[in-house]
Amino acid sequence: MASSANEPPSADGVPAPGLVAELLRAHPPMIRDLPGFDPDHVPHRPGPLFAEWLAIAVGSGVLDPHAMTLSTVEADGRPDARVLILRGVDEERGGWVFAADAQTPKGRQLAAVPAAALSVYWPLLGRQVRVRGAVEQAPAEVSAAEFRARSLGGRIAGLVGGESRPMGSMDEYDAAVTEAARRLHADPGLVAPGHTVYTLWAREVEFWQGHQSRRHIRLLYRRPAPDPADSAWTRTLLWP
Ligand SMILES: Cc1cc2nc3c(=O)[nH]c(=O)nc-3n(C[C@H](O)[C@H](O)[C@H](O)COP(=O)(O)O)c2cc1C
Repeated sequence: MASSANEPPSADGVPAPGLVAELLRAHPPMIRDLPGFDPDHVPHRPGPLFAEWLAIAVGSGVLDPHAMTLSTVEADGRPDARVLILRGVDEERGGWVFAADAQTPKGRQLAAVPAAALSVYWPLLGRQVRVRGAVEQAPAEVSAAEFRARSLGGRIAGLVGGESRPMGSMDEYDAAVTEAARRLHADPGLVAPGHTVYTLWAREVEFWQGHQSRRHIRLLYRRPAPDPADSAWTRTLLWP
C-alpha cells in the first residue's frame, strides 16, 4: 500500500509508488472560506480592480503577492513561462509593468514576438488574474532610472548578468557578485546593459474568484484595440 499523504517518503528518499497521486488527491484546492466578488459592481477598467485585489492580497498576508507568471513564445511558436515580479500598473491605460534583461531567453522571445500573458494566483483568497496583450519596451532612460532606483542587492544581481547561461559552480557566481559590488561601489550610477522595463498593454484581463463549491466567478474585460489610450472596455461574465 502507498504511504499516507501525511507521511514522509520512504526512508531511502524515493517516494513510494502512488504517493504523488495520493498527495494530489488529498489536497483539493480552495477548501476554505474565500472572499466574495460582485461582478455587477466593478470599475469600468480592469486596472483599478486589479489594484483593489492586489491591496487586499497584501493586506491579507498573501506571500509575494507581486509574483506573477510571464508567458511568452519563441519565434517558432514554442511557449515558455517563468515567475517574475510585477513592478507597476498603469491603472488608467491598462498597462502591467515588469523588468528583465533583454539578453535572456524571455527578452529574446519578447523581441521576436512582442506579446505575452501574465497570470497570478493568490491562494489565500482563491483569486486568479490573467492579463494578455502586446508588450512594449520602455525607452532606455526609463529602464536606467528603474535600475538605479533598485536596492543595492537588486543592482548587484542585475550587474552580475549571465542569467540563464550555463555556469560551472556557485563559486563563479560568488566571484561575479563580489566583482559587481566592487564596480558599483566605484560607480554607483552603473546600469546593467540589458536591463529593460516592459509594459504589457492589456487587451484582455480576466478576474477569477474561486468558490469552495466550485461556484467560481469569472469576469473578462476586453478592449478591441491595442491602443492604450482606448478605454472602451467591455465586461463579460464567463462560465466557470
Ligand atoms: C518569486 C520570483 C521572482 C522573480 N522575479 C524576477 C524578475 O523580476 N525579473 C526576472 O528577470 N526574473 C525574475 N525571477 C527569475 C525568473 O523566474 C527566471 O528564472 C529568470 O528570469 C530566467 O528566465 P528566462 O530564462 O526565461 O529568461 C523571479 C523568480 C521568482 C521565483
